[in-house]
Amino acid sequence: MIYPATDITIQQAAEALKQGSVVAFPTETVYGLGANAFDTLAVASIFAIKERPYFDPLIVHVNSLSMVSMVAATIPPVAMQCMEKFWPGPLTIVLPKKDDIPDIVTAGLATVAIRMPLHPVALRLIELADVPVAAPSANPFGYLSPTTAQHVAMQLGTKVAMILDGGKCAVGVESTIIKIENDEVSVLRYGGIPVEEIEKATGLAATSHTTKIEAPGQLPYHYAPQTKIVLVGDIMSVPDDATCGLLLFKKRHIPHTHIHIMCLSDDGDMRQAAGNLFSCLHTLDALKLKVIYAEQVEEVGLGRAIMDRLKKAQARFM
Ligand code: TXA
Ligand code: MG
Repeated sequence: MIYPATDITIQQAAEALKQGSVVAFPTETVYGLGANAFDTLAVASIFAIKERPYFDPLIVHVNSLSMVSMVAATIPPVAMQCMEKFWPGPLTIVLPKKDDIPDIVTAGLATVAIRMPLHPVALRLIELADVPVAAPSANPFGYLSPTTAQHVAMQLGTKVAMILDGGKCAVGVESTIIKIENDEVSVLRYGGIPVEEIEKATGLAATSHTTKIEAPGQLPYHYAPQTKIVLVGDIMSVPDDATCGLLLFKKRHIPHTHIHIMCLSDDGDMRQAAGNLFSCLHTLDALKLKVIYAEQVEEVGLGRAIMDRLKKAQARFM
């Protein structure tokens, strides 16, 4: 059930987390499905609810740097630099894990992914629960991520007793995931913090991990709606057909009158576009169309995160 986030409902959700239940909550990126990261059974129910394979590790959410030391064995200086610069915010950092973190959280890896979300409800929830909160996005594995409480209710419905409603997620795409080893930054997933900003803050060139899949965000398909997605460069090549949808990057007049059109942004603003990406896809998906054509965006800054999600949605049908 959906509960508007208030002092009282956040307190109830924190109690539920302490007692081993799973709670859905808002973050600035997408809604998360959280459990006490130290509670193996509670974390196991996240996997069951999402039908998520156990090889896919979870992100642990914290509300303070002291909580990071409950989770991470070491914090290299470059990681500390990134935490100070980008936290709270949509950046996840993969660090060597403490033994206390159960293997189910990290899929048996020696590392753990950590982030501090930029959302008052998430931060207050973690504070009141007083434990690090393991939380993947609150959607069935492989499907579109939720950016509203209603998306969570639609996709996971009765499987989650409590969904805290904190409104629409401002960033709208998941966090950027980086791994820091020996003063080297590698990007495991493009997301809410542009890689260019991380490079600027650290003075290091970020490499992208292409050799080995460490995050399912790196799988060739993921984040997919039920409807077939086709990426297009030239909008004029798209048929004007009422059984199709068109996701425009930028609002503008086009001659099509039958196709279902949605726009990611009014004037080509990448932040607005990222913020609307999943909600537009949810809306178009619900129309049960034959195809959704999606306009390509330039792969710089947040455009990389947008194109990554669209390409992975398209790959599901290839
Ligand atoms: O914005 C976000 O990151 C959202 C909100 C809820 O915080 N969470 C999210 O979680 O997107 P999820 O589970 O949908 O994606 C987490 C990704 C997965 O692809 C997982 O494989 C990767 O993080 N991951 C987790 N632990 C890892 C580790 N130790 N090494 C490499 N990748 C890891
Ligand atoms: Mg996810």
